[in-house]
Amino acid sequence: MQIFYTPKEIQSHLKIFTNKQVGFVPTMGALHEGHLSLIQKSQQENDITIVSIFVNPTQFSPTEDLNKYPRPLENDIRLLKKNNVDILFTPNQDDIYLNGLKNATQLYIPKLSKQFCGQTRRHFFRGILMLVNRLFNIIQAQKAYFGEKDFQQLQLIQKMTHDLFMPIEIIGCPIVRESNGLAMSSRNQYLTPEEKEIASNIYRALKKGQSQFQKGLRSPKELIETIMHVLQNTPDLHIDYLDIVHNNLSLAKSAQKTDRIIFAGFIGKTRLLDNVQLGL
Ligand code: PAJ
Repeated sequence: MQIFYTPKEIQSHLKIFTNKQVGFVPTMGALHEGHLSLIQKSQQENDITIVSIFVNPTQFSPTEDLNKYPRPLENDIRLLKKNNVDILFTPNQDDIYLNGLKNATQLYIPKLSKQFCGQTRRHFFRGILMLVNRLFNIIQAQKAYFGEKDFQQLQLIQKMTHDLFMPIEIIGCPIVRESNGLAMSSRNQYLTPEEKEIASNIYRALKKGQSQFQKGLRSPKELIETIMHVLQNTPDLHIDYLDIVHNNLSLAKSAQKTDRIIFAGFIGKTRLLDNVQLGL
C-alpha cells in the first residue's frame, strides 16, 4: 500500500491511472467492519481503491469531540494493508484547507443541511461538503462509497454531486452491525459495555417499527409510538430525532416500503445514529 500525505504528491501519482477505474472511500479513521465493507465493495467494482483518513475539523463544533476523536493511525494502516487497499491518503489540515479555516471556500445545501442532524449541529454538513468536495477534486475517482448509517450525509453528497454536475458516482452501502444489532461506529468505543447493551435497544426498537409496518401499520405517528414504547425502557437515552422519511428526507405522511425510520440520540455524551428501511 502506498501512503500519500499531500494533494500534490497523490495527484502526480494518480496520473499513471488514466486507464484504470478508481474507487474512493473517505473516512475519519478508527476503522471498523463498517468501513471495511465499503472498501470491499470498492475493490469489487474498481481496479484501484483509495481510502482517505482525515479527522475533519470543519464538521466538529467547538463543544464536540474533535480532540478526543480516536486516531489509531498505525492500527488503521495495518488493517488497510491486510485488506489490500492500494492507496491511503492522509493529509494534514493545512494541506486541505489552504490559508486556514476562516476564509476557506464553502459549500452549502440550504434545506437538507438544516434538518435532522443539521438542526442541532449547524456547522456539520457544511464542514462535510467542504471536505468531501475537496477530496473528490484531488482524487478524481469514478466512484465513491458511503455508508447508509449516515443516511443524511449520503443524501447530501448525492445531491451535491448531482447539482454540481460532478463526474462521480456515489454508491450507498448497507449498515454493518455488532452482533447485538448496534450499528458500528468509531464513536462506539466511547461506550462502556453496559452502555453498548443499552444502545442495542435502538436497533431492537427500529426493528419493531419495521415489523409493525410489515403487519400493515402505515401511520407514521403510530409507527413512532410503537418504537417509542420499546425505547421508553432504555435508561440514559436522549432522543434527538426519530422520524419516518422518504429517501429525499421529507417526512412521510403515509409510510411506504422504501421509506426509512431515522434515529439520532445520545447515550451519555456519545451520539449514535441508526436507521432501517421499512420494507425488506
Ligand atoms: P466516518 O464516520 O469515518 O465514516 C466513513 C464512512 O464509513 C461513511 O460513509 C460512513 O457512513 C461509513 N460507515 C460508518 N459506519 C458504518 C457502518 N456501521 N456500516 C456501514 N458504513 C459505515 O462519515 C465520515 O467518516 C465523515 O463524515 C466523512 C464522510 C469521511 C467526511 O469527513
